[in-house]
Amino acid sequence: MNSLKPFRIDNDFKFFLLDQRLLPYKEVWVLIDNYQEMAAAIKDMIVRGAPAIGIAAAFGYAMGFRDSENSPDGNIYMKDVKKTLAATRPTAVNLFWALERMSTLYSTGTDFKTLWNEAFSIALEDEVACKTMGKFGADHITGTKLRVLTHCNAGALATGGWGTALGVIRELHAQGRLDVVYSDETRPRQQGSRLTAWELKRDGINVEMTTDTMAGHMMKSGLIDCAITGADRIASNGDTANKIGTYQVAVCAHYNKIPFYIAAPVSTIDFSIPDGSFIKIEERDESEVTHINGEIQTAEGVKARNFGFDVTENNLISAIFTEKGTLLPPFNTAILTLR
Ligand code: MRU
Repeated sequence: MNSLKPFRIDNDFKFFLLDQRLLPYKEVWVLIDNYQEMAAAIKDMIVRGAPAIGIAAAFGYAMGFRDSENSPDGNIYMKDVKKTLAATRPTAVNLFWALERMSTLYSTGTDFKTLWNEAFSIALEDEVACKTMGKFGADHITGTKLRVLTHCNAGALATGGWGTALGVIRELHAQGRLDVVYSDETRPRQQGSRLTAWELKRDGINVEMTTDTMAGHMMKSGLIDCAITGADRIASNGDTANKIGTYQVAVCAHYNKIPFYIAAPVSTIDFSIPDGSFIKIEERDESEVTHINGEIQTAEGVKARNFGFDVTENNLISAIFTEKGTLLPPFNTAILTLR
């Protein structure tokens, strides 16, 4: 079940990204031929989701190496490649993690094919990690006929395949323990309604769309058993950055005594920062808020704020599912042990 991936590779190292901006209306594969195109694709959100961004950047780095062979100074060229790819999006740590892994390999004096295979390994390892954390998550969560709320897209499209939060949900579904997934719309880019709901429906998993503002009411009304999301960066104490609106879901869950879970690979943990206050929150163009599909949603000239992510403090998180096991509070101890 589920062979969906955010990228496809054809013969002769031809790399394509599935244009997530056009889903679910159109399935268009965009050829990415060099690192500049990859950087633009990450920035413009053709590809999105923390692990998928890391994977795309890794392939972009390998493409940069291929082109560096025509440059007078390969080392300077590769520094520029890394800098350009790293400057695309600030919050998801997988981007920097993957570039670090690629540049460390580059510094050993390697060739294009080895770098390309390394990028491929990052993708493959991520898919395996998703399947493993999915099992850990489903083992931890108790009950049947579960009604699970998720926010944003933490599915196959956002990862090397399968998904982090959706990995847990897929496993619950496979075990026959899932009643329904409530997929928050996730304004402003609607990853929940356009990507998550599409992915789940495609795989025959019962999904219903909700707007971001419904979580509190639905929890209070006893309609939700637990909430699970992915993560863009987890600090050493467990504070977690994820798509804007996640914090509200976690606060409502805490208030209503409903478990709130994070599912993420170890590559999403930023061991270098002590807590969530060190996470840079991306602020994107206001037109993403003022417009939907090019149509203005407010009066001409009204300004908007557009924070892409928020940070959920560790005390609001019941457990973090990783491929190395389930982390429980106190997260600073659990994460230190993991390290
Ligand atoms: O802005 P995006 O679409 O890249 O943000 C995606 C998210 O915030 C996801 O929830 C997160 O990366 C989890 S990925 C498995």
